Amino acid sequence: MTRHDTTGAQRMHYSDDTLTLLVGDAVEQLRTLPDGAVNCVVTSPPYFGLRDYGGLHGQIGLESSPAEYVAALGAVFAEVHRVLADDGTLWLNLGDSYAYPPGSSGTQGSTGQRADRTFTAAGLRGTRSLPPKNLLGIPWRVAFALQDAGWVLRSEIVWAKRNIMPEAVKDRPTRAHEQVFLLTKGPRYWYDAEAIREESDPAQEAHNQRYAREYQAHTARAAETGQPGNVNSVGVHSRPGKGGRNARSVWTISSTPLKEAHFATFPAELPRRCIAAGCKPDGVVLDPFSGAGTTAMAAQQLGRRAIGIDLNPAYHDIALRRMADAPLPFGETA
Ligand SMILES: C[S@@+](CC[C@H](N)C(=O)[O-])C[C@H]1O[C@@H](n2cnc3c(N)ncnc32)[C@H](O)[C@@H]1O
Repeated sequence: MTRHDTTGAQRMHYSDDTLTLLVGDAVEQLRTLPDGAVNCVVTSPPYFGLRDYGGLHGQIGLESSPAEYVAALGAVFAEVHRVLADDGTLWLNLGDSYAYPPGSSGTQGSTGQRADRTFTAAGLRGTRSLPPKNLLGIPWRVAFALQDAGWVLRSEIVWAKRNIMPEAVKDRPTRAHEQVFLLTKGPRYWYDAEAIREESDPAQEAHNQRYAREYQAHTARAAETGQPGNVNSVGVHSRPGKGGRNARSVWTISSTPLKEAHFATFPAELPRRCIAAGCKPDGVVLDPFSGAGTTAMAAQQLGRRAIGIDLNPAYHDIALRRMADAPLPFGETA
């Protein structure tokens, strides 16, 4: 076990057999990792113009325009692309924000973070590129930039939040979701659909069973009479299989504010689903914006090794305390 061990450009905060925490700028620390060293990346970068993470130099999110923000994230994800195995997956959680009138600050201070991660404003110095009140479309700007850089955009998952703080708006619906993009390096990649199968909708299940009965009766009649078999797709409903259904692209998960961290942690259920589906059982999970270590915690619970990078060593200490408070033997799932 090593703590605060500085080796070359790599700034090690903590390391054991299952967990490595590196301190510093994401691009710089990613450069210290070998090509293809990780199997799955689950991360939630600082959102554009939202907040100041402790005044640290080099933090992402305080750029003066969406274009600069997208470029900063582009540099990080170029390194992520290099360290990700060819069959690896990237799960990128991003929230959106609104253009704010010039001169006013939408950025919240280090204690003003809304625990539900629902953001209403952007632009530390005002976002001049769009008139005030415009939704900036930040997640899609980043997704398109990553596509242009060669990533394959496989899915847009909507994280629907059960519990949100009310917004003081009366001229648009209250925002209650964020995006999680699934991106890959190519068309073939590790993906375990079974690991995140979800419960079927009872109405859809009843519908499927009704069609399954009709399909079987039709097939029996066809065999007896020599008539052609099924000529439509009804049979798809009666395929034998496991219970439940393939995971949908809307994930309803409550946000779970963490007292110790004055910033937005995502609920452990979010990285848990990404890792279960997108990381092979003996794989390594990376979060280049590790914060309070929720991704590493989920990786540990699912028996994967984890690497976390963050500018702020105090956040790594929170992560270590959280993981010590909720110890689960490596390899044992929650
Ligand atoms: C939204 S928080 C991540 C929270 C994390 N998902 C969790 O659940 O704890 C974003 C993190 O990015 C870190 N950060 C900001 N700029 C960075 C940079 N250039 N390199 C590495 N980390 C950075 C911040 O210190 C903060 O901890």
